[in-house]
Amino acid sequence: MLVGLNTESVTRVSIIVGTKGRGSNMVALAQHITADPGFVIHRVIGTKADAPAIEKAKELGFKTAIVPLGESFEKDLAAALDETNWICLAGFLRLLPESIVNRWDHRILNIHPALLPKFGGKGMYGHFVHDAVIAAGETESGCSVHYVTKEYDEGAIIRQERCPVLPNDTAETLADRVLILEHRAYFAALKEVAHRSRS
Ligand code: GRF
Repeated sequence: MLVGLNTESVTRVSIIVGTKGRGSNMVALAQHITADPGFVIHRVIGTKADAPAIEKAKELGFKTAIVPLGESFEKDLAAALDETNWICLAGFLRLLPESIVNRWDHRILNIHPALLPKFGGKGMYGHFVHDAVIAAGETESGCSVHYVTKEYDEGAIIRQERCPVLPNDTAETLADRVLILEHRAYFAALKEVAHRSRS
């Protein structure tokens, strides 16, 4: 098992994806990682083989692991993550088992499509987030990359990028604007914290 100080020159990153998303953050993050000699994708992990993000990961040639939800989820997830230095959640909407959060303490990141601490928490994902931002009359939104803890969306924020909320925005138009920020913010945040932890 390789957690803690990474003494090797390459940082192994596993991405845990959800069943609902398109996998666009996984693809963007994986492309940045592949282009950077300091990082490598260790595994793309999902709970269902037919999830769009898993299918995309396979098409791109990444090693995937399917860990179904169930009694042995915690044990099987730990096994799939073994030798992973950093974990990135991309559309995974559940809380991770406590033992995983503890073992990779401050080495698990998530991306959220709003400016936390506002508009986060259980059930705040996808259009629910953007609907809430518009309903609150916000003039600015964006994305947040943060550490994962035992609670939803509560870990320290590493990076935020901002964009305007326009008067005629719908959840869809706002989501599209925020997604562009997400695709560049995630790797920038990962790179920053991974480098910081090495020095
Ligand atoms: C993104 O909006 C991300 O912020 C959130 O889940 C969504 C996943 O979208 N965590 P995609 O599947 O990466 O396209």
